[in-house]
Amino acid sequence: NNPPWPSYRGYHNFSFAHATMSVRLPTILGKAIDDVVKTLNDEHDEERIVDLTECISRLEDLLDDLQGNSVLRPIIDDGEGDIPLWNKAIARYFRGKHFMDAPWVFAEAYKYRRLHEAFSLSKYWKDYDVFFRQKCETFARSSDAVFELSTRFAEPLKQAEGASAEELLEAKRLQFHELTQICLWGNSTDLSLLINMTEEDIKKLQSTGGDHLAATEKNILGNDMSKIWDYISSDKFSSKEKGGRLDFVLDNAGFELYTDFVYADWLLQSGLCSEIRFHGKRFAWFVSDVTRKDFNWLLNSMVYGHLFPNASDEELASLKKLGLRWKQYVKEGKIIYEEHQFWVSGFSFWALAEEAPDLFVHLAGSDLVIFKGDLNHRKLTYDCQAPPSTPFNVAIGPLATLAGAPPIVSLRTIKSDIVVGVPAEKAEQLDRDEPGWRISGAYAVVLLSDGRKG
Ligand code: F6P
Ligand code: MG
Repeated sequence: NNPPWPSYRGYHNFSFAHATMSVRLPTILGKAIDDVVKTLNDEHDEERIVDLTECISRLEDLLDDLQGNSVLRPIIDDGEGDIPLWNKAIARYFRGKHFMDAPWVFAEAYKYRRLHEAFSLSKYWKDYDVFFRQKCETFARSSDAVFELSTRFAEPLKQAEGASAEELLEAKRLQFHELTQICLWGNSTDLSLLINMTEEDIKKLQSTGGDHLAATEKNILGNDMSKIWDYISSDKFSSKEKGGRLDFVLDNAGFELYTDFVYADWLLQSGLCSEIRFHGKRFAWFVSDVTRKDFNWLLNSMVYGHLFPNASDEELASLKKLGLRWKQYVKEGKIIYEEHQFWVSGFSFWALAEEAPDLFVHLAGSDLVIFKGDLNHRKLTYDCQAPPSTPFNVAIGPLATLAGAPPIVSLRTIKSDIVVGVPAEKAEQLDRDEPGWRISGAYAVVLLSDGRKG
């Protein structure tokens, strides 16, 4: 059940795997330790302090293991549900492997599980998230794009009066194209890559105006958006009586989650969807991925927060209005937040049906599953050295071919080596003329697999 191409590994100097394993991950871990020290310095209770110093020692051990290229040891049983998944993978597939010679995607995920272990073994700090501060601060620094969207979308959607059915459908199609792109480019703000981001950098990444989107559409190198619209607007997806069910396998918290909500809001209001499920992570993952706490934090800060001291009353009111509407969706069960331990395992999604059959059956009940972001794309495609012209449904293996596989879309800004669903000549030209294009986040893919719902 493996693709025929070799996985990327940390020792591959030619790939981003090498820079990540040897430089980025130690930097991220060093910053994580700084965050815990900050918390430690603010703590007054002795028992909690001692407990936290033990977490810091475990983090320092992890940093030593990473920098010393140690063998990947089993995860210590902290009683959490994902332990069997992790230790089975280590025993069966990666025994004796080190940080640098294990498949990159596995070794990198393992680092985040070890980071969690440093806290899950404690008494008082089990759910501590070393990236929480950073996630909140970045959202607070995203004011331009946040208000650009809230002032535009706070008012409920209105249908143009007197328009024919055809005109209405065409208007919906155009909005779909725009909102899919807003959701896609929301993925550019990924904290693991942008460790030292300035306000200007954030603004550039988050620009959501119409002209900007038209200009960036040419950067979508494999673009199935029209096919997705054909499916989503057909009666295979939804009927007149009932909209479809859409699942989002989320990526990053803060601004990206905000754009996911903007998209979900439009899909619900337009009647295309009646139920949307958001799948998040159970603990801090790849720096900025969404946890339940991030999900709640976003909605509550939109309604009650004081994050934007320079905003106008009108801007703040629009943000609050949106936040209240989204909270109402959650109350009514139109938007449902979920977590499954498979999403925080080291397995690629080629193994999803085998290792998490309950999750496969659950997703098989969906009318469309959208995977957001780079890491989800790496896991969908096994993070291997597949040729760029590999069709998406070939690259995702069993998730396209198994009976019951739902239609799948990957909305991904390209931030790592693997590229599929892109014409060979285009990838060759960029490899030649624009070194670094595979990690810049300036290019994207929007790819669809039809699935086999039968
Ligand atoms: O460390 C590399 C990586 O795993 C890449 O997938 C990407 O650069 C980043 O981390 C995560 O990006 P995203 O948040 O889009 O999954
Ligand atoms: Mg992420």
